[in-house]
Amino acid sequence: MKPMDRAQLVIASNRGPVSFGRDDDGRLVPRRGAGGLVSSLGPLVAGSGATWIAAPMSDADREAAASGRIDVEGFRFHCVDVDPAVYRMAYDVVSNSTLWFLHHHLFDLPRRPRIDRTWRQAWEGYRAYNQAFSRTLADDSPDGAVVLVQDYHLSLVPAQLAELRPDVRVVHFLHTPFCDPTWLRVLPAGAVDELIGGLAGATAVGFHSRRWEDAFLGCCREVLGRQPSTFVSPLAPDPDDLASVAASDACAEEAARLDEAVGDRAVIVRVDRIEPSKNVLRGFQAFDELLRARADLRGRVCFVACVYPSREGLADYVAYHLEVETLARHLNDRWAEPGWTPVILHTTDNFPRSVAALRRYDVLLVNPVRDGLNLVAKEGPVLNTRHGVVALSREAGAWDELRRAAIGLNPFDVTDTAEALAAALDMDAGERSRRSRLLAELASARSPTHWLSDQLVAAGVAA
Ligand code: G6P
Repeated sequence: MKPMDRAQLVIASNRGPVSFGRDDDGRLVPRRGAGGLVSSLGPLVAGSGATWIAAPMSDADREAAASGRIDVEGFRFHCVDVDPAVYRMAYDVVSNSTLWFLHHHLFDLPRRPRIDRTWRQAWEGYRAYNQAFSRTLADDSPDGAVVLVQDYHLSLVPAQLAELRPDVRVVHFLHTPFCDPTWLRVLPAGAVDELIGGLAGATAVGFHSRRWEDAFLGCCREVLGRQPSTFVSPLAPDPDDLASVAASDACAEEAARLDEAVGDRAVIVRVDRIEPSKNVLRGFQAFDELLRARADLRGRVCFVACVYPSREGLADYVAYHLEVETLARHLNDRWAEPGWTPVILHTTDNFPRSVAALRRYDVLLVNPVRDGLNLVAKEGPVLNTRHGVVALSREAGAWDELRRAAIGLNPFDVTDTAEALAAALDMDAGERSRRSRLLAELASARSPTHWLSDQLVAAGVAA
């Protein structure tokens, strides 16, 4: 098998590698888009001649979409033309309020989801949004193309595209967990068939963890009576990208500010989007329980939470954000002493500050209730300079790879989480150093290149 020509590679994702703004003369100018996928995949496709298809996020993007394909950073970028109302139904109602909650098992089932006529309209919007991607992909994909479809926003694309272009190979990669078959039953039967049939239309479906792969296969057996081809390929941090941020002036300034705030105290760090699946509240409750149980730690440890807003168009997220701020304030009201602020809460997105915190932690708390992977759990050990340990939820995909060196915790159990924090803080220097070395080794065993290669191999081409 000879390696595939990268110009035949097509990527499809909701959020693209580029978003558009206007310069002083009102001209449309491309800017690098936000998000983990872009920072992982962007450098791999830059200069390759590959094509990347994404949804418009703003009016400027929509205008750019109207002008067709654009060459940026050595790849071709194409914004799909989607009506803003259809986009809101597909993104807010189905992708983020239904599929995200479903795959993370987050529904408060006595109340949500409410599957009514409005929801059914939104599902039609989701289908139309996926169809818009499929049509653009069908038009843009060269002969023999390999199309890499990313995430739950585009679950219907593989089957739709297979109808339009049976010659292209489609790999779908899910960055979230996948719901267990019982949870799938909250959706109407028609939507279940479309969802599972849509994904199963791919040449192969990829996941960060075997657990999510098993759950998907369980759903396929129930719904389709067959098992499509699947693979597991955890994403990894890009060490060069992290090293360049760590070496930046911005990161040095943030590190100095952090040092001033925490002094020589022990530091617990978390870096997360403010999002219910990340379990920020139970993290604070565990810290509270720790300070209650351990008078000796009062005044001697700070919890630095670098959390940043996410999906603020959704009421659940706004409410959660408010609860996070309120709880952090309560903890400080309860425990602060002159010269010691127990919880240092940052709620703006500042990557150099997050990197500075990841270099400084003694304990990194990663306690999601459920998470496809959690890249922070791997970025931390790659960056950390203090033999820090990781207290990690067993419900994160990253647990599979880091379990030999991290301290495991049950994210639903506040006492267990407090005990994991205590064990990490109490650990003797020899054990800390052994664990942190192993963590760094495990976290950097793979790179984003491995992840891309695995998708190509799953498509049946040589990487
Ligand atoms: C997180 C998830 C991804 C998802 C992304 C998009 O990073 O891990 O699975 O694609 O969020 O969310 P957004 O809020 O940027 O639309």
